[in-house]
Amino acid sequence: MNKKFYLTTPLYYVNDTPHIGHSYTQIASDVLARYLRLAGYDVFFLTGTDEHGQKMERAAKESGRSPQDFIDEKVEMFKKVWRKLHISNDDFIRTSEVRHIEVVKAVYNNLYEKGDIYKGVYEGWYCTPCETFFIDSQLVDGKCPDCSREVDRVAEESYFFRMSKYQDRLLRYIEDNPEFIYPLSRRNEILNFVKSGLRDISISRTGFKWGVPVPFDTKHVVYVWFDALLNYISACGYLNDKKRFERYWPADVHLMGKDILKFHAVIWPCMLFACGLNLPKKVFAHGWWTIKGEKMSKSKGNIVEPLKVIERYGVDAYRYFLLREVAFGLDGDFSYEALENRYNADLANNLGNLLHRTTSMAIKYYEGKIPNPAAKDGIDERLRFMTEVLSEKIESLYEHLEFNGILQEIWMIIDSANKYVEESAPWNLFKTKNERLKTVIYNLAEVLRIVSVYLYPFMPEKATQICKQLGIKEVIKSMDQVEWGGLEPSTVVSKGLPLFPRIE
Ligand code: MSP
Repeated sequence: MNKKFYLTTPLYYVNDTPHIGHSYTQIASDVLARYLRLAGYDVFFLTGTDEHGQKMERAAKESGRSPQDFIDEKVEMFKKVWRKLHISNDDFIRTSEVRHIEVVKAVYNNLYEKGDIYKGVYEGWYCTPCETFFIDSQLVDGKCPDCSREVDRVAEESYFFRMSKYQDRLLRYIEDNPEFIYPLSRRNEILNFVKSGLRDISISRTGFKWGVPVPFDTKHVVYVWFDALLNYISACGYLNDKKRFERYWPADVHLMGKDILKFHAVIWPCMLFACGLNLPKKVFAHGWWTIKGEKMSKSKGNIVEPLKVIERYGVDAYRYFLLREVAFGLDGDFSYEALENRYNADLANNLGNLLHRTTSMAIKYYEGKIPNPAAKDGIDERLRFMTEVLSEKIESLYEHLEFNGILQEIWMIIDSANKYVEESAPWNLFKTKNERLKTVIYNLAEVLRIVSVYLYPFMPEKATQICKQLGIKEVIKSMDQVEWGGLEPSTVVSKGLPLFPRIE
C-alpha cells in the first residue's frame, strides 16, 4: 500500500472574510498535497472551519441571524474561494458537525474521568477576537498581548485542563525531536515558553451558549480552542473508524501561521499526551503577510481578497506569487506592484516566452512536429544534466517546505533554457541546415515538458496548458514523468494563447 501523508491547515474562523493570509496556508498546503500525490503518496489533505465560540455568537447576533444560519452561509463563501483557488483538499471539517462534536464530548468525558480535567474558578481576562484567556501579568498596557485589543474581565467557575502535568514530557519531546517544530527560530521560542512553566488552562465557558456543551455539566460550553484542535483527530476517524484512524494518525504536518503555533505546539501536544495518542510529526508555522507594510484590518480597509486578485491576474499567478515572493516561514509584504513585477518578469517574459519561442520554432522549422534529436553539443548535454539533477534537490526542498527554493530551482532551468536558445542560435542552424537544430528544438520542448511536471503542484492550470500546447496527451500524474526523454518525437505542437499575457 502507498505511504500515507496526512496534512492539515487550521480551521478558519468563519466570521471573517477569506483573505490573502488565509489563502496563503491553503495554497502552501495544496502545493504540498499535489506534489506528494505525484510522488505516489496516499495523501489526506484536511481543511475546514472553526464555528463555535463567543466571537461567532456575537457576529451572528449583530447580523440578526441565528448562529447556525449565519455560519452556514459563511462556510459556503470559504468553500467557494478555496474552489476558485484550486485547493484540492480531501475533506472539509466543520466543528459544528456531529462527527466532530461526538469526539469533543468523548474526549472531555475521558479526560474528566482520568482526572486531567477538573473544576475550578477562573479569574482573569478574555480576548474574544483571539478566543484566548490571559492573566494580569500577560496583558500589555491592559490589552491583549497578541492583538492589542480590549479584553473582557471574567471570573467564573470553569473546567481546567491539567496541562502542567505534561510540561516535562513535552519539553523532552521537543528536545528529542528536532524536526517537530519548524522553522527552528520558532522552535526555540516554544522551548523557552515551555521551560518557563506550563499552567493548567481554563477549557470551559459559561457566559454564552454557542459551543459544544460540556457533557457532564451543560451550563458550560467547551473552550473553542480545545474544541477546534480536536478536529485533527475527529476528521480521520478517532473513536469512530479505527482502521482509518490507524492509517492516518499521527498527522505528518500541521501547517499554520506563526500566531497560532503555541496552540499547536504546546496545548495540542499536551491534549494528545492526555489522550494517550502520538504527536504529529511536524508543526510548521509560516510568517504573516502585511499590505504595503501595514497589518491587514477591516478598519484600515486594506484587506486583500483573493478572488479580486485572481480576477485580474489569474489563479496560478497568484499562487506563484505568494510562494515565490518570500521564504516560507518569514513574513512577507503584498503589493500589486510586486505582483506585477513578478508576473511580467518571471511568468510572461521568462516562462511564457520560452513556450512561445519553442512552439513558434517547431512550427516554423518542422511544421509543428517535434523532431528527433540528432547531433549533440556540450551545451545540449548541460541542459539535460541540469534537469536530471533537479529531482533530488526538489525532493529535499519539499521536505522542509522551502517552496520559494523550489521555484528558484525551476526558474534556473527556465533561465538556462532561454540562454540556450541564444547560445545555440537556432535561426543560424536553420540557415546552415545544421542537424543540431533538431536537438535544440527537441531539448527545448523536453525541458518545458519536464518543467510542467515540476510546476504542476504550484500552477495546475498553466502546467496543463503547457502540455497542451506541446501536444502532449498524457496527463501529469507522477513525478516519474520528469525523466528525460519522455517527449515523443513527432508530437504536434500548437501555438495557443499566450501563457501569461503581459500586464501593461
Ligand atoms: N480558528 C483558529 C485556528 C484553529 S485551528 C484548530 C484561527 N483561525 S483564523 O481564521 O484566525 O486564522 C487561520 C489562519 O490564517 C492562521 O494560520 C493564521 O496564521 C492565518 N492568517 C491570518 N492572517 C494572516 C496574515 N495576514 N498572513 C498570513 N497568515 C495569516 O486562528
